[in-house]
Amino acid sequence: MNILITGAAGQLGRALIKEIDYYNAANMIKVAKCACGKIKCNTHGLTQLVRPIDYILTGHREMYLDEGFDGSDEAFANEDRHVQALDITDENAVNEFVFSYMPDVIVNCAAYNAVDKAEEEPEAANLLNGKAPGFLAKAADAVGAKIVHVSTDYVFSGEGDKPLTEKDEPCPQTAYGKSKLLGEQSVASACKKHFIIRTAWLFGEGKNFVRTMINNADRQLRVVDDQTGCPTSASELARLIVYLFFTEKYGIWHGVCEGSTTWYGFAKKIFEFLGKNADIIPIGSMEYVCAAKRPAYSVLENARIHTETDFTMLSWEEALKEYLDEYFKSESLQ
Ligand SMILES: NC(=O)c1ccc[n+]([C@@H]2O[C@H](COP(=O)([O-])OP(=O)(O)OC[C@H]3O[C@@H](n4cnc5c(N)ncnc54)[C@H](OP(=O)(O)O)[C@@H]3O)[C@@H](O)[C@H]2O)c1
Repeated sequence: MNILITGAAGQLGRALIKEIDYYNAANMIKVAKCACGKIKCNTHGLTQLVRPIDYILTGHREMYLDEGFDGSDEAFANEDRHVQALDITDENAVNEFVFSYMPDVIVNCAAYNAVDKAEEEPEAANLLNGKAPGFLAKAADAVGAKIVHVSTDYVFSGEGDKPLTEKDEPCPQTAYGKSKLLGEQSVASACKKHFIIRTAWLFGEGKNFVRTMINNADRQLRVVDDQTGCPTSASELARLIVYLFFTEKYGIWHGVCEGSTTWYGFAKKIFEFLGKNADIIPIGSMEYVCAAKRPAYSVLENARIHTETDFTMLSWEEALKEYLDEYFKSESLQ
């Protein structure tokens, strides 16, 4: 199976690469392939291990994901970690990539995520979050591929008080939310074989709330306590993506870690897990004014996961613990 990943250097992109690597390591396929390149060559018939999922990584700019990349020929030869430049807002470039690689699945991890800035430049947000996913979906459809596109809880108004399922009506209140809803629509109308996964409050390798809290642990932290959502680890979302793209269960999915909390509750748990006494003060949204209004209640319910699959997402606390153990436990934060 060939996967084309866009936005590969972002939080989700990196988690997805790791998840596919785990999958490959656990599911290597033995095929008879000989040095002459033929599968099942009768003359030589050597057995080789083949990765069930092959991927091509693309991103906003060309780069190598391996730390310590030294520019040697050997390092350049490691195509696995080579992120090739593909600006998904360039329809011709998208088509060129898709038609030359002929993927079975495209996973779009690229996005315009500057929620406040989107209020000033909605056209830029609409192009990257709204139109460009449609370019990918159209190309996917043309080559018979599936597409996985990632959306957000911000497509909802955030004014209710009950968990939102895939059947609830979106009603975005911000330029970012509107651009993401546009993206859902462009993908759904261009490619039948689509998975649109709405997620929230992501933390992975990159800039995110958990890292901001930890980096500012020695100051007094004033954290909003009247916005409730679902903190979700990029690795849990990546597991869901890999699960789904092997299926034909198309349509909209909610994919968040189980449970919910406020930003203040989230911050408290981070420091509790790290065993650090931080000075955190709960505040109201009125005291933390942003250009884009944040939803007061945007708890997503994984309704389709619960009813249509045997897949389980970790709770946000379990996922946070796992994340902190992996990335931060070794650092001296005390
Ligand atoms: N982060 C959250 O809390 C959150 C919440 C809900 C939903 N989501 C959704 O989850 C998905 C993954 O988010 P994330 O946190 O992994 O995002 P991220 O870390 O910001 O990564 C986005 C990636 O997209 C790349 N990109 C930007 N413009 C591009 C372009 N024109 N063409 C190709 N790539 C481009 C970025 O590259 P550069 O950095 O080099 O520009 C970056 O590597 C997105 O769809 C996002 O909307 C995220």
